[in-house]
Amino acid sequence: MTHEVRAVVAHKKGAPVSVETILVPDPGPGEALVQVQACGVCHTDLHYREGGISDEFPFLLGHEAAGLVEAVGEGVTDVAPGDFVVLNWRAVCSNCRACSKGKPWYCFATHNATQPMTLTDGTPLSPALGIGAFAEKTLVAAGQCTKVDPTASAAAAGLLGCGVMAGFGAAVNTGGVGRGDSIAVIGCGGVGMAAIAGAKVAGASRIIAVDVDERKLKWAERFGATDTVDSSKTDAVEAVRGLTGGFGADVVVDAVGRPETYKQAFYARDLAGTAVLVGVPTPELTVELPLLDVFGRGGALKSSWYGDGLPSRDFPALIDLYLQGRFDLQEFVSETIALDEVEAAFTKMHRGEVLRSVVVL
Ligand SMILES: NC(=O)c1ccc[n+]([C@@H]2O[C@H](COP(=O)([O-])OP(=O)(O)OC[C@H]3O[C@@H](n4cnc5c(N)ncnc54)[C@H](O)[C@@H]3O)[C@@H](O)[C@H]2O)c1
Ligand SMILES: [Zn+2]
Ligand SMILES: [Zn+2]
Repeated sequence: MTHEVRAVVAHKKGAPVSVETILVPDPGPGEALVQVQACGVCHTDLHYREGGISDEFPFLLGHEAAGLVEAVGEGVTDVAPGDFVVLNWRAVCSNCRACSKGKPWYCFATHNATQPMTLTDGTPLSPALGIGAFAEKTLVAAGQCTKVDPTASAAAAGLLGCGVMAGFGAAVNTGGVGRGDSIAVIGCGGVGMAAIAGAKVAGASRIIAVDVDERKLKWAERFGATDTVDSSKTDAVEAVRGLTGGFGADVVVDAVGRPETYKQAFYARDLAGTAVLVGVPTPELTVELPLLDVFGRGGALKSSWYGDGLPSRDFPALIDLYLQGRFDLQEFVSETIALDEVEAAFTKMHRGEVLRSVVVL
């Protein structure tokens, strides 16, 4: 059986997205059909629409989602119809060179559904990050479904599927921030704010939020920032150094991904500190740094893909922290919207008016 559902499609670089009917097949071997209950609007969806990720239009957007498994294909044993799941874009293969070395969070051969979802004329869709969840139903690899406590709200839980995992993990997994450490986070959107919240959960003693938008800095205090820096008015590097005894922070997360913010992260670290790039740069951007400073400042320059997270390990644990009131996932949900309001949500995101707009179906 083929399911006709409404979904958000990006047809052309830079053109507004549209809601239309798409065709979703029944799950084949290793696949799961999911009734999407909620899906957050991430900056990466906008990157797709702007052609910044690939030119494989048309895209089926949406990838920060939670929902109920409706049906599973042959051989699927880890999830069953009725399970409440968060979708992930790291369904690990267990066989590649990363998995074989016991580092599955780097998996180089992650699974997606093999059957395509299509427009009604049969044109195959490219699902954003192999998910495509601004849709009433979506088809994924069963390994892209992680079961979590069903008492969690779908709008909040779905956010773990991308931005929150990426930010939380950038601070905690990639940056390794821990009790007593100092951290600065540059760019306090959904991703940066999750890095701030993660640093708080991990016990960091000084958490410095850096943004060019006053509103974001106000919100950052609610998520655990101990200090804020408006880098449109102050030199970010001097300010972070000033707040850390003149030295710089142990860990600096760049959740923007531009040459100027990366340089700030590089120099706002203490000697032997760690810079983590989690914001995704566009292809034309380059950065130049004195090689002597790269050597002389020591430490580590790391990138963080999906917060070096492992959905099977991290999603249930973060949902438990949320349900225990130790990690306020609900606070990331600025508004809930309908499928046909995704384009408007991009505008609000661009203007910095929201952390996350979440489509609720
Ligand atoms: N690495 C990953 O796995 C991963 C996963 C999800 C998203 N991302 C990326 O993370 C980035 C952030 O995503 P988001 O959803 O939080 O975006 P967002 O648009 O919600 O937030 C971006 C924030 O950066 C601030 N900002 C912009 N320019 C700045 C500057 N020069 N200095 C300081 N702050 C500045 C904005 O005011 C805003 O608060 C994007 O590039 C996104 O693609 C990466
Ligand atoms: Zn693998
Ligand atoms: Zn995302």
